[in-house]
Amino acid sequence: MKLHSNGIFFAFFDKTMSVIIVKIVTLSMSGLKKEKVSRFGVSIEKELLGKFDKYLEALGIPNRSEAISDIIRDKLTGEKINDQNSLCFGIITYVYDHHKREIEKKLNSIQHDHFRSIIFTSHVHIDHDNCLEIIVVKDKGSAISRFTERVLALKGVKHGKFVLTSLME
Ligand code: NI
Repeated sequence: MKLHSNGIFFAFFDKTMSVIIVKIVTLSMSGLKKEKVSRFGVSIEKELLGKFDKYLEALGIPNRSEAISDIIRDKLTGEKINDQNSLCFGIITYVYDHHKREIEKKLNSIQHDHFRSIIFTSHVHIDHDNCLEIIVVKDKGSAISRFTERVLALKGVKHGKFVLTSLME
């Protein structure tokens, strides 16, 4: 995109006007972005669609298009960990009973094996028995997969979950 401009044209505008011009250009560019939206028809069971709409209502998501875009994006992000060479960011989260024999020692040892993947870890004492830990990771998909599998497969680790995020738009 090119503004038809010359030196004289801009010389007459103060900073405020420049800001307005930038805003107009940005708006027209976001307008262009919207033109890239595609419409398509989907056949889906009525009952399933009803459940989906209730779910959207409960979450306050304004429309199906937005929700479906999110689901597709999530799915593609999830697939991305299969792309073993791409840089991924994610969170490993789990709960464990710290009385379980040697579990803290084992978790600590696994984390040290994978220290290069870890940005930070945090520990919360949920109650007398249970601990919640989160580990924020950044590494290649392959390294994160190995690390996650080892942590979540450990006996005594409950409610283990891995949330992958990426820089995908
Ligand atoms: Ni604890």
